[in-house]
Amino acid sequence: MNLESLKAIIGPNVIEEDQDIISGATSDWTRRYQGHSTALALPTSTSEVAEILKWCSSNRISVVPQGGNTGMVGGGVPMNGELVLSLKKMTKIEFVDGAPAQLIADAGATLSTVQREAAKNGWVYGVDFSARESATIGGTIATNAGGNHVIRYGDTRKQLISVEAVTAEGIIVGDIRGLVKDNTGYHLPSFLCGSEGTLAVITRARLGLWAKPEEKVVVLVGLESVEEALDIARLFASTNQDMQASEIFFQNGLALVCNRFEIKPPWGGKHSTYLLLEFAGPKGVLERIQASNHGQILQNTESVAIGEDEASRSRLWRYRSLHTEAISGVGIPHKLDVTVPHHQLPYFMNTVGSIVEGCASDSETYLFGHAGDGNIHVNVIGPNENDLTIDKAVLEFVSSLGGSISAEHGIGRAKAAYLHLRRTPEEIRLFKDLKNVFDPIGILNPGVIFFE
Ligand code: FAD
Ligand code: MLT
Ligand code: ZN
Repeated sequence: MNLESLKAIIGPNVIEEDQDIISGATSDWTRRYQGHSTALALPTSTSEVAEILKWCSSNRISVVPQGGNTGMVGGGVPMNGELVLSLKKMTKIEFVDGAPAQLIADAGATLSTVQREAAKNGWVYGVDFSARESATIGGTIATNAGGNHVIRYGDTRKQLISVEAVTAEGIIVGDIRGLVKDNTGYHLPSFLCGSEGTLAVITRARLGLWAKPEEKVVVLVGLESVEEALDIARLFASTNQDMQASEIFFQNGLALVCNRFEIKPPWGGKHSTYLLLEFAGPKGVLERIQASNHGQILQNTESVAIGEDEASRSRLWRYRSLHTEAISGVGIPHKLDVTVPHHQLPYFMNTVGSIVEGCASDSETYLFGHAGDGNIHVNVIGPNENDLTIDKAVLEFVSSLGGSISAEHGIGRAKAAYLHLRRTPEEIRLFKDLKNVFDPIGILNPGVIFFE
C-alpha cells in the first residue's frame, strides 16, 4: 500500500505506520482473529473520513472500519492487510435539550461517555453492557448492540434518530438535524444499523434519551433450575414496570468468575442456577417489588440478595458481567450468541451442553445471558478455535428451534458461513445487491457478513 498520495491529501498525522501502534488494532478482543495491516488511519473529522474513502476507492484499497475493537465476531479485524479506519479520535458529544432530550455523538465516543453525558443532564441512554468503557457509538450502531437493558429500552436501533455516514466512494450522507418524524423515502439509519461496516462508515449519530429513574434495585436469586428462574423472571416482567434487566448464569460460570477475580461466591456457590433482576423507576422501587403479587415468591425463596446502593448493586452485577473476561482467561472460547423463542428456552439451555459434548467430550460449556429477551451466550472452551464442529452443531440446533444464530453480536466473519441458517437465499441475494449499491467495488469490510 503506497500511502504517499493519501498523506499528501490529508496530511501525515492522520496515517499511522508504526507497527507497535498498528498491532493494537489487528487482532480482536477474543484473540481468535489475528490479522495484519501496514496502515491505521485515525481521522478527526467526517471530511477526513470522506477524503480517506475517496482515496481508497480510487486506489481499490480495502478498508476495515473500527471503533473500540471489542466486537465478538471478528468484524473489525484486517484479516487480509486492509487499511484500518479507526474512528477513535472522533469523540465529541453534544447534549440537545428537549422533551425527550437527545445527544449528538461522534462515532468514536465511547458508550460510557455517552451514558455519563446523558446522566449529567438528568437523562439516561438506553444501551448498556460491560464493554462500555471501550465500545464506541459507531461500533454499537454498526453491530446494533443489545446488552442488559433491551427488555426496557430496546436495542441500539431503537435509540437511533439519525446518522451521518460516509459511503465507500467518499460521499457524506445522512441528516443529523434529526427530525423525529421524517417519512421521506428509505430510512438510512435502519440500513446502517447492524450493517457491520459493510455499507458505509458511520461518523455521527443523533440518539434519543429516556427519563432517568430515581432509584435502582438489583435482586440476585439462587435457584435449582432454568424453569424456576424463567418463571420468576416472567412473573415480574408481566407485573412490574420497573424491571430493566433479567439475566441468567450458572454454577460453572460463577465458579470461574469467583476463582479468577478472587471474589466470594454468593451462598457458597451452591446453587445450580442464578437469576439477576434489575429494577429502576420512581422512588419506592423496592416497596413495589415487595408489594407486587410476586414479591411473595422472593420471600419464600431461600437464597435472595438485594442490592439497593450503588456498591451493593455492582457487587451483585459483577457475578454476571465478569463472565466474558473469566471465560477468555481460560482459553479462546467458541462464542455463540444465540436467541431462541421463549417457550424453547428451557429445552435449549437444558440440552445444548449435551450437544456440545457429543461433538467434543473434553469441552466445558458455559451458558449465561439476557434471559429476558431469550438471548443466551453459549461459550465453549476445549476444542481448538479453528475446529468449527461444535459451532455448526449448536447453530443448527438453534435454527431447528426457530432461533437466530446471532442475537446481538452480529455475523462478522465468525458466523458468515452460517447466515443461511437464518436468512433465505432470496434474502441473502437482496442483501448482496444492497451491498453493491452502497459499495460498488467492494472495499468495505470484505468477508464480513457474506462468506466468500
Ligand atoms: P468494533 O469492535 O471496533 O467493530 C465492530 C463492528 O462494527 C466491525 O464490523 C466494524 O467494522 C464495525 N464498525 C465499528 N465502528 C464503525 C463505524 N464507525 N462505522 C461503520 N462500521 C463500524 N455486545 C452486545 O451487543 N451486548 C453485550 O452485552 C455485549 N457485551 C460485551 C462485553 C464485553 C466484555 C465485550 C468485550 C464485548 C461485549 N459486546 C457486547 C460486544 C461489543 O462490545 C459490541 O459488539 C460493540 O457494539 C462493538 O463496539 P466497538 O466500538 O468495539 O466496535
Ligand atoms: C454479555 O452479555 O456479557 C456479552 O454479550 C459478552 C459475551 O457474550 O461474552
Ligand atoms: Zn450479551
